[in-house]
Amino acid sequence: MDITEILTTMEYGPNPESADDALAWLKDRQDWPGHFIAGAFHADPQETAMKVENPATHAVLATMPVASAATVDAAVAAARAALPGWRGLGPQGRARVLYALARHLQKRARFLAVLETLDNGKPIRESRDIDVPLAARHFYHHAGWAAAAEVEFPGRAGWGVCAQVIPWNFPLLMLSWKIAPALAAGNTVVLKPAEQTPLTALAFAEICREAGVPDGAVNIVFGAGDTGATLVAHKGVDKVAFTGSTEVGRAIRRSLAGSGKGLTLELGGKSPFIVCADADLEAAVEGVVDGIWFNGGQVCCAGSRLLVQEGIAERFYARLRDRLARLRIGDPLHKSTDIGAIVSGDQLARIRRLVAEGQAQGGTLHAADAALPETGHYHLPGFFTGAEPASTVAREEIFGPVAVAMTFRTPDEAVALANNTAYGLAASVWSENINTALDLAARVRAGVVWVNGTNLFDAAAPFGGMKESGFGREGGRAGLEAYLHPLADDPAPGPATEPVDFSTAPQGAGPAAEAVDRTLKLYVGGKQVRPDGGGSYAVTDGTGRSVALAARANRKDVRNAVEAAVKAAGWARMPAAGRAQVLYFLAENMDQRRADLAVSLTRAGLAEDAADREVGAAVDALIFAAGMADKLDGGLHSVGQPRMVAMTMREPWGVAGLVCDDRAPLSALIAGVGALLAAGNRVVAVPSARHALVAGDLMQLIATSDVPGGALNLLTGDPAELAPVLAAHDEVDALWLADPALRAAVETAAAGNLKPVMAGLPRSDPAGLARLLQGATQVKTIWVPYGA
Ligand code: NAI
Repeated sequence: MDITEILTTMEYGPNPESADDALAWLKDRQDWPGHFIAGAFHADPQETAMKVENPATHAVLATMPVASAATVDAAVAAARAALPGWRGLGPQGRARVLYALARHLQKRARFLAVLETLDNGKPIRESRDIDVPLAARHFYHHAGWAAAAEVEFPGRAGWGVCAQVIPWNFPLLMLSWKIAPALAAGNTVVLKPAEQTPLTALAFAEICREAGVPDGAVNIVFGAGDTGATLVAHKGVDKVAFTGSTEVGRAIRRSLAGSGKGLTLELGGKSPFIVCADADLEAAVEGVVDGIWFNGGQVCCAGSRLLVQEGIAERFYARLRDRLARLRIGDPLHKSTDIGAIVSGDQLARIRRLVAEGQAQGGTLHAADAALPETGHYHLPGFFTGAEPASTVAREEIFGPVAVAMTFRTPDEAVALANNTAYGLAASVWSENINTALDLAARVRAGVVWVNGTNLFDAAAPFGGMKESGFGREGGRAGLEAYLHPLADDPAPGPATEPVDFSTAPQGAGPAAEAVDRTLKLYVGGKQVRPDGGGSYAVTDGTGRSVALAARANRKDVRNAVEAAVKAAGWARMPAAGRAQVLYFLAENMDQRRADLAVSLTRAGLAEDAADREVGAAVDALIFAAGMADKLDGGLHSVGQPRMVAMTMREPWGVAGLVCDDRAPLSALIAGVGALLAAGNRVVAVPSARHALVAGDLMQLIATSDVPGGALNLLTGDPAELAPVLAAHDEVDALWLADPALRAAVETAAAGNLKPVMAGLPRSDPAGLARLLQGATQVKTIWVPYGA
């Protein structure tokens, strides 16, 4: 081929990255590399072994042990034993270790990139330019947090021992995302890499020794799902962080229910990639390359649903087809390869099954017309058109290099389509009109939104999902917080009172309750309503004498209240200052009714001075929450990418449930309600069962205080019955739960739509309230490029 031909065809000659060093390193470790526990490698000949394959060639790269329960025990014990020493190093000492890890990753960058590509099949260009540099950046960034965490987060400390389970799509990068913040916050770690890709974790273990990580601060056990399940359920673990499939995330949520462990989940996605008619189409086409063909589409936040405005759709598809024809598919070690191998035979089979299903359901597949290598797990990149929004490929995560394209007419329709998914991890918005782009970015329900860009990551920018994409953030301040134990949740509990006995039916409205003078109702959709089943229960004073009949809500009432809350979406759209006004007004009205509220509390058994304190604390809490409504600020982050602004906004969860117990019966309710409403949530609250009388007073106050109908609903009844119903409801987005005894049932029920459960009695003091206000929101990160 002469130079003219080369310039015409732009054919590249072979330019493979050498794998010699990495293969020699592996050869030296053929003899059973063990688990990394307490700073040493432990091999147990009794354990089973798993073969690690190069997906591009099927060559066996290594044979790794599968950790038994005893090995997991030893690793957790090592992490526990290392905790005092790690904490004892102090902020600067820990920062130095993290900094040393970053430096060592950089020094071994080329080796690590090759090892990652051999193990995972991703193009060397990506492991060299993205995975490894970002992994190092994560340790640098968190070295800074290690030094600053005590001053930046006063009164908070690491959880203790963290169990971390990661997937195979970014093995070293996910390891860094997990280990760096955990160590920075003063935790020790047991990490389990994915069974398909353990090799860079093995190399990292060696780097830990070189970099002077104290023995036991980082422990790495190898194995598959069973080992992962054993690790997260281990009693010695205080906090679990998981990245992987939604299905396993749900299983972990259930297995941890009621354990009191911290949990963050980063799960799947089906992220919309919205191309408006006024987008820069060339740039958007390159965006698709980075959105769905990057890492062979094996990316949780891949832009896998292309939503294209009708007028430009055919033009855009034509350009995509042209671009597909120019993608280079093949040897991942080849420096100009765009699409490497799929991680495993199982994953390839899954992609093929879903793609075949998409075709069977009437979708048209546009695939690259290229020859695939004869050996190795490869799949052609492509995209579907003509697939129905309800079809499998439009709903399920393919986790391969195949997108699904659909059209929309108006921005409203784009938002509706984008949000028509159980997931909420990421989104890309392409428009040259900043008004349109930011409007769409704000309205899409996703934890990360890229404007005119895609798949941008940085250690300073929080990353994580909404809805069934999980909860918790990684990166930046919000990411570090996930590794810090919350302040003590419960204030001094109120006087011990007998719980309400729901097992015996009250005797009608009268006889058993001589002093009955009121029959209370529920408050739903801005009105006092009778309970669906007409149920009631007796509210007694301290001596067991009935003082009123309270309405006993059932599951139908919960559904009605949630429906009313869903409809009250205007509350979230109201400017924060407007919400503050409404809450101030409610506080003012409560203040005027102090005496009545205190009487209701004493009638249900609270001592007079305690009742007065409760009312005072409640009014103060509401005023505080009102004042903070317009101060739930986000931030601007110093990301590594030039000409890029990454900003975070604090958004309400949506519809929030709040289930109180009998402690701090008015102040905890008002603190929780105030924080949730101030942040723009709509609330379905279950007040203290014993103190239904004061809830009845509140209903009157709310009705006369400009709180829009449905924004706040109150359901009296048995918390043990109502809390799991709220937890299982798909349209409840988050739940606050005071009674620890209900945690297991509630967290199990909440696994369905993966709503976060915040446990602990809402605190009405300013520090507690500040934390409630943070917890009443979730972080959304929006990336916006600039430059003329
Ligand atoms: P997976 O969720 O089963 O595996 C991820 C990690 O969890 C691995 O380390 C695995 O050993 C571990 N694991 C598996 N079962 C566990 C359990 N019960 N308890 C604790 N740990 C457990 O994902 P898998 O099977 O590798 O892939 C299946 C599908 O999941 C993919 O096709 C893809 O759609 C999706 N996926 C999504 C990822 C994401 O980042 N969102 C990452 C990996 C897979």
